[in-house]
Amino acid sequence: MIYFKDVHKKFGDREILRGVNLHIVKGKTTVIFGVSGGGKSTIIKHIVGLLKPDSGTIEVDGVDITKLSPKEMKEMRKRIGFLFQSGALFDSMNVFDNVAFPLREHMKTSGKQLQYSVRSSLEMVGLKPDEVVHLFPHELSGGMRKRVGLARTIIMKPSILLYDEPTSGLDPVSSNLITELIRHLQNELGVTSILISHDINESFKSGDYFAMLFEGKIIDYGNELFFRTSKNPVIRQFLSGSSRGPIKFR
Ligand SMILES: Nc1ncnc2c1ncn2[C@@H]1O[C@H](COP(=O)(O)OP(=O)(O)OP(=O)(O)O)[C@@H](O)[C@H]1O
Ligand SMILES: [Mg+2]
Repeated sequence: MIYFKDVHKKFGDREILRGVNLHIVKGKTTVIFGVSGGGKSTIIKHIVGLLKPDSGTIEVDGVDITKLSPKEMKEMRKRIGFLFQSGALFDSMNVFDNVAFPLREHMKTSGKQLQYSVRSSLEMVGLKPDEVVHLFPHELSGGMRKRVGLARTIIMKPSILLYDEPTSGLDPVSSNLITELIRHLQNELGVTSILISHDINESFKSGDYFAMLFEGKIIDYGNELFFRTSKNPVIRQFLSGSSRGPIKFR
C-alpha cells in the first residue's frame, strides 16, 4: 500500500530521516513510535506531499509520489485524510464550514447532500450537530477541536488515514472514543491508517503493526506481541518510559 524506500530528509544541516524503510499494510493500522522530535510527523508529511525527500522513494498504491506534479498530487490527496497534530481548523469559519470545506472544495457538494454529510461526520466523532455547527474554533475546547478536525478528515471517506496524535490533550473518555473510532473506521471501511501516538496503551488498542523510529531509521517492526517481548533495548526503554538506556533526552 505505502512503501518508504531509503528516505532521507535534512532540515538545514540536521538529518532527521536517515534512510527510512517502512511498509504500511493495506487495510491495517500501523503505529509509528519514537521520541519527541524524532521525525514522526516528518514521515507522514511526506505521504501527503507537504515535504519532499532529499533522496529515496515513497510509493502509494504503486505510484512513486515523489515524482508527481502538483496537480497529480492534489488528486492523490483526495484519497488521503490527514489529521494534523495541531488540529488546524480555520479560525474564521464555524464548525459547519470547517467540516464542509473539503467536500465543497474537491467535490463541489452543496445543499441537502452537504448538510447530511457534515451532520453524519460530526455524529460519527460523537458531537451533536445542532449544538456545535454554529460555533467558531475559539469557542471549542481542545478536545472538541480535535474531533471537529477528525470529522473534517473523514468526510471525504479517504482510503488512507493519517493520525498525528489524535488524542493528545483529551480526557480519557473522549480519548477512548477516538481510539474506538479509529478501530471502527479500519474494521468497517477497510481504511489503511498510520497512527502517531505517545500513549502506549492507546497505540496497542488501535494498532495492528508497530514501527520504532530511532535516530532517523525504522529500527524494528512487528505486531504487539513482538514489541511487548522485544529484547531491543530501545524498544524496552521506550515502552517502560525509563530514563536509562540508549534513548538520550536533551
Ligand atoms: N519544516 C521544518 N523546518 C525545519 N525543521 C523542521 C521542520 N519540520 C520539522 N523540523 C525538525 O525536525 C525534527 C523532527 O520533527 P517532527 O515534527 O517530525 O518530530 P516528531 O517526532 O513528530 O515529534 P513530536 O512527537 O514532538 O511531535 C524536529 O527537530 C523539528 O524541529
Ligand atoms: Mg509530531
